[in-house]
Amino acid sequence: MGVSTGPRDQFDKAIKRVEKWSAGIEGTGNALIHGDNLTALRLLARTHAGSVKCAYLDPPYNNGESYQHYFDSMSHDEWLEAVTTRLQQIRALLREDGSVWISIDDSELHYLKVSADEVFGRNNFVGTIIWERRTTRENRKVLSRNHEYLLVYAKNIEAWSRVRNSLPLTQDVKKRYKNLDSDPRGPWQSVSANVQEGHATPQQYYALRAPNGRVHHPPKGRCWVYSEPKMLEEIVKNNVWFGKDGNAVPRLKRFLTDRKKGLTPETLWRADEVGTTSTAKKHLLELFKETSLFDTPKPEQLIYRILQISTHPGDLVLDPYLGSGTTAAVAHKMSRGYIGIEVGAHIKTHCVERLQQVVGGEKGGISKLIGWQGGGGFDFYRL
Ligand SMILES: C[S@@+](CC[C@H](N)C(=O)[O-])C[C@H]1O[C@@H](n2cnc3c(N)ncnc32)[C@H](O)[C@@H]1O
Repeated sequence: MGVSTGPRDQFDKAIKRVEKWSAGIEGTGNALIHGDNLTALRLLARTHAGSVKCAYLDPPYNNGESYQHYFDSMSHDEWLEAVTTRLQQIRALLREDGSVWISIDDSELHYLKVSADEVFGRNNFVGTIIWERRTTRENRKVLSRNHEYLLVYAKNIEAWSRVRNSLPLTQDVKKRYKNLDSDPRGPWQSVSANVQEGHATPQQYYALRAPNGRVHHPPKGRCWVYSEPKMLEEIVKNNVWFGKDGNAVPRLKRFLTDRKKGLTPETLWRADEVGTTSTAKKHLLELFKETSLFDTPKPEQLIYRILQISTHPGDLVLDPYLGSGTTAAVAHKMSRGYIGIEVGAHIKTHCVERLQQVVGGEKGGISKLIGWQGGGGFDFYRL
């Protein structure tokens, strides 16, 4: 896990640290860096160029709010310039098959998209994900903003498309598979046996005779998915379903056991799947009984989903706006290496404290989901 000894040693030399110490196992390469992220990213360029698999950025959104641990109000130009400069630095740190995920809300989304297009190239834009960050109505506002966004870029879209992970089948998807005819091959779901006639061949138009003698025709504008000989073969193999009484429109059986590929990630991420800001705050309340609550944490489930899609165990994850340490905690639990940078003093009160708990086997967030038992370690640096 973590970064190999070479870059770590070089990093130790490159960084003019006033403080460094390790928690848990030494030499993992996992690093929490206290300081301005631009300075840190420039140092990392000397040691970690081309080695980050996933960068997650959750910058202040420039929405005019004032939070307990940081201010979120800059001039628009200043804000955009600051984030763009950091994206340029991050691009150089990415692996060829790496990706960048940026959390943002309506205030700056569209300006940031144009700027990020310039840094990564429009062809490397993967998509915009909508995250349902709250499920309750915000009555004090003109519109209750219940969602925000993730802008996703690949360093090289072809390379990334080859390595992008599918998501595991959910219980909801598995529940769609039943075994209505006690098929020894196990649960199946039925899909349409007819398709749009766009590229149809004449062999796909015929009267299909069901085993009970009933004759079926494809609906208007559609044709059968298979030619007649192939369809009859599938019927003999018990791969076509005509309903319990044998009279229903034919459908094809698709077996759960054949579903090797997972799910393609969708662009709508619901609160019940990846949590809300309130889920994240409840988790922080359990973690920090004495410390002031961090206002804008992300739920561990949200970062878990991002890392599931974009990384494998041992890959390096970078978060230059670490906040309360969510990305580092999730990367640690998922056996990814990580570098987290945070300018605020809460890197000690929140991130370090949180990661020490994680090393000790902390049970909140995604811990139960992945059976986290504790272990590993990290280094702390102050620039
Ligand atoms: C929205 S919060 C991140 C929250 C985080 N994702 C979490 O789950 O807790 C943004 C963080 O970026 C930090 N930040 C802002 N400017 C920074 C800079 N130049 N260098 C490092 N950190 C910075 C702020 O102090 C704040 O903690």
